[in-house]
Order: sequence, then structure tokens, then C-alpha cells
Amino acid sequence: DIGKLKNQEGENLMVYDPGYMQTVCCTSRISYIDGDKGILEYRGYPIEELAEKSSFLEVAFLLINGELPTKMQFEKWEHKILHHTYLHTDISRMMKNFHYDAHPMGVLVSTMSAMSTFQPEQNPALLPGMDPYKDTLLMNKQIYRIMGRIITVAAYAYRNRIGRPFNEPAQELNYIENFLYMMDRLNEGNYKSHPKLVKALDVLFILHAEHELNCSTAAMRHLASSEVDVYTCIAGAAAALYGRKHGGANEAVLRMLEEIGSVSNIPSFLEKVKAGKGRLMGFGHRVYKNYDPRAIIVRKIADDVFSVCGKEPLIDIAMELEKIALTDKYFIDRKLYPNVDFYTGVIYKSMGFPTDMFPVLFTIPRVAGWLAHWKEFHADPENKIVRPRQNYIGKRTRDYIPTDKRQ
Ligand code: ACO
Repeated sequence: DIGKLKNQEGENLMVYDPGYMQTVCCTSRISYIDGDKGILEYRGYPIEELAEKSSFLEVAFLLINGELPTKMQFEKWEHKILHHTYLHTDISRMMKNFHYDAHPMGVLVSTMSAMSTFQPEQNPALLPGMDPYKDTLLMNKQIYRIMGRIITVAAYAYRNRIGRPFNEPAQELNYIENFLYMMDRLNEGNYKSHPKLVKALDVLFILHAEHELNCSTAAMRHLASSEVDVYTCIAGAAAALYGRKHGGANEAVLRMLEEIGSVSNIPSFLEKVKAGKGRLMGFGHRVYKNYDPRAIIVRKIADDVFSVCGKEPLIDIAMELEKIALTDKYFIDRKLYPNVDFYTGVIYKSMGFPTDMFPVLFTIPRVAGWLAHWKEFHADPENKIVRPRQNYIGKRTRDYIPTDKRQ
């Protein structure tokens, strides 16, 4: 127990660990990763099996509540979530006021944060003497609201971007169909989207739903530890996801493939990467040092989507890039393999999503993982406010110099 070890001066022993490479900061029962063997399990179920047999909403229930739902539990879960997809009209109005070229992730982060001002009942500061984390009904209501509204916020961020009116959620459609309908990405030119695309997006959502203490989930737990309301936690986690080293990577991959432009330019591009001028986006992972099991499933989805929407030409560059990189000493030595987002960009592009929507498509499903961690954090009797220490290397105890004497 490092917390109890002392140095020779009797001070607590501390560990200097930038990036928390060796730090375990909680116990969890939500997901298991073996980075060397390429294993990912949600609540003990292998990701491959969930991707094949389950649905995103069922997986969200599993992550948040710990077990797969019975038929009745699932029906209630789906019903509750779909009936919480509507936004307060003032929130819709607020969203219309973002500049037309605002990045949809910026719009999503700000809107989720603004939601806390519309749903103030969870703010513990307003509830003296009450523990909101013991109120299961209230916590479930928060979960339904966030799970429901995130698809509407995501779709409206896109609609605002293209200057089109917002489509109200349609209760008779399922979760994925609803999202595609509100986006107006129907592909069949009618009310419902093509079942192959609905299925593809559903599986992509399963693969992105949870991944233990990645940057955004760690941020979610960090914020939860201060007991700020759950909407603000979600906004903070989404902000962490937005960066290109994390959820912004799928967008960065596509821009990189476009920049490469043709298969013949790959060798010169890789030379630049190896010389330290930029990274091969969609490659590398903090935990997976063999392969990312999600990337294998994603690659298979591409063909299904192409069979409906047409082949996205950038796939040829992506495949050749992977082939060359996997035989290159630089990437082999550093154990760099395609991660989940190497191929998602080309799939989303083929489905007609604009590039800046890609991180939003990652955020929607990851909300389930964040909520699972939020709930687990607050149920953990050992939880503490997250407060790491630093190694101060700056100047000490200096005399203040008046402005007119400074040089
Ligand atoms: N391209 C080229 N070189 C790389 C890459 C890459 N994608 N990733 C790591 N490296 C190199 C580093 O330059 C470093 O080399 P060095 O030892 O010669 O200095 C070595 O590999 C180790 O890199 P770190 O940054 O220390 O590895 P870390 O585990 O901290 O980073 C990360 C993991 C952030 C994912 C990194 O691999 C990366 O930036 N990848 C590209 C962005 C990306 O795809 N992010 C998505 C991650 S998955 C997700 O969030 C869903």
C-alpha cells in the first residue's frame, strides 16, 4: 500500500508517474482489457460476442446496471430512453445560436454543460442534507435523460451546421434509427434508414461504448469525485474525448488519408512520421500492444457499409498504409497497430457523415461507459476526491520587487 509508505524524513512516499502509466486509482467491475493478448470484455462478456449477438442499448444496460436485461427490463429501458430524447425548447433555441461553422463537438460539449442549468435537481449544492447518490430513482432518471438526449443533441449539432431545421425525435423508431432520422441520413430516401447501415452503426456503437480508464472516462471519474452534477461531468468527459489523441483521432485519420491522397504517396508520408514529423493517426494505443480487438471487427463492417453506400476510395490508402506500417521496423519496435478508429473514418464517410461529426459518433456510445463509471464511483465506499500531487521544481521564497525596480 504505497499510501502508507514513508521516506526517511517520515513523509508519505509518492510516485512520479506522468500520464498515470503505472497508477491504478480505483477498483472496477465494468470492463476488462488484456493489452498483450488483445482481449476486451464488458462485464465479463467478450466484445466479439456482444458485437455479434447484442445491440447497443442492451450493452448500455449491461454496462450501467451490471447484468444483461430480461425482456421486460429491456423494454422498459428502451421505452424510458426513447421518451427522454426530446430537448427543452430553450435548449434547441440555444443550439440554433451557435455559429453555422461551429465544430459539432464544441456544440455538444457546451449543450451538455448547459443542460445542468435546465435540470438543477441533481446539483448536490442545492440539496443540503440529502445524498443524491442514494436516490436510485433520481439517478436512473438522469441516466435516461442523458442517454436519450445525447442522440438529439448530436443530430441537432449537425443540422445547425448545415443550416437545416431540427427534426423532432420519432418515437416509433429505435435508438439508432431515430438518430439517423434526426440527422436525415436515411440513404433509402424515406423515413427509415437502410437496415444494414442501422446494424453497422449499432455494432460501431457497441465497440465504442466503454474502455475502462481512457482519458475521457478518467475525466468523468475525476469530475464525479468533486460531486458536480452529472451533466457537467458528461460535458467534461466529452471535452476530454474531443482531442485528437483520443476521440478526435477518427477525424484526424480521415484528414490524414486525404492529405496522403494516393497509395504512391504512402512511403514518403511514413518517412515523415518516422522522422518525428507527425503521427500515424489511428495507430498506437496506451494499453493494446499487440492488436486492438475492436479494429478487427470494424474492418469487417466496412464491406457491409460499402455494399449499400458504395466503396469509399480512401479505404485503398488505409489498407495499403496498414500493410506497409505493419512490416516496418519503426512500428514493429514500438508495438504500433491500428486502433479502433483507424477504419471508422472511411466507414462514416461512406455513410455520408461529414468529417467533423466523427468524434460525435464516438461520444454518443461512450456516454454509456461514462454513466456506468459515474454510478460505480458513487456506489464505491472507498471513493475519494481525486487529488494527485506534483513535484514542484520552480523557484522558492523570493522577495517581491516593486514594478519600478524590475528589470
Ligand atoms: N505514429 C507514430 N509514432 C507513434 C504513434 C503513432 N501513431 N504512437 C506512438 N508513437 C511512438 C512515439 O513517437 C514514441 O516513440 P519514441 O519512443 O521513439 O519517442 C512511442 O511510439 C511511444 O509513444 P507514446 O506517445 O509514449 O505512447 P502512448 O501510449 O503514450 O500513446 C497514443 C498512445 C496517444 C494513442 C499514441 O499511440 C497516439 O498518439 N496515436 C495516434 C492518435 C490515435 O490514434 N489516438 C486514438 C487512440 S484510441 C482511442 O482513443 C479510441
